[in-house]
Amino acid sequence: MIIAVDGPAASGKGTIAKALAAHYGLPCLDTGLLYRAVGLAVLKRGGDPDREADALAACDFDDAILAEPALRSEAVGSLASRVSVHPSVRAALVSRQRDFATQPGGAILDGRDIATVIAPDADAKLFVTASVAVRAQRRYSDAQAQGARPDMDSLIADIQARDTRDMSRDHAPLRVAEGADLLDTSDLTIDAAVRQAIALVDAQL
Ligand code: C5P
Repeated sequence: MIIAVDGPAASGKGTIAKALAAHYGLPCLDTGLLYRAVGLAVLKRGGDPDREADALAACDFDDAILAEPALRSEAVGSLASRVSVHPSVRAALVSRQRDFATQPGGAILDGRDIATVIAPDADAKLFVTASVAVRAQRRYSDAQAQGARPDMDSLIADIQARDTRDMSRDHAPLRVAEGADLLDTSDLTIDAAVRQAIALVDAQL
């Protein structure tokens, strides 16, 4: 059984994917972390994330980078979005994701192109979304909990820039896959969003 969860930044897709993993007893892969690892590896090597050759070279990152706290920052999220437009970078990360998806017993993957490219034959597909204002507020609260006081206007601008880049790129752009159910978490608590996600997945299985 493969469950695909796609959606934009801070939509709640990661939280929902982890809750689904616990509910169905499946392993879960946050595929954004792979693109973030490439973005961070380019930065560390002094490369240019917009230069395809530099980004591709960073795809052989050491797995230890996946445990670095900096990986979760908004700055690295933006770098990830820049390296992810390059077709060769996307291609270099495909087999790792497909191997995870096709392991015996099944898997859950969350990202931008899981239901469209990585696992188009997934047994259940969700597209999780939320308004830009709500997503920026979530990022604000996350940052505040870590003692930071981010500027709300720049958070909104970052999210909009990332949405535009992710949706308008030529290769594997973010879009709702055929057969996917839409889940808008703008006005939902985490518990309510998870309950709805389980109901939608159960109905697709
Ligand atoms: O989901 P997360 O915010 O960690 O993803 C970071 C960036 O990686 C996204 O903005 C997107 O550009 C890219 N990404 C992608 N395909 C995926 C997962 C993430 O292009 N499957």
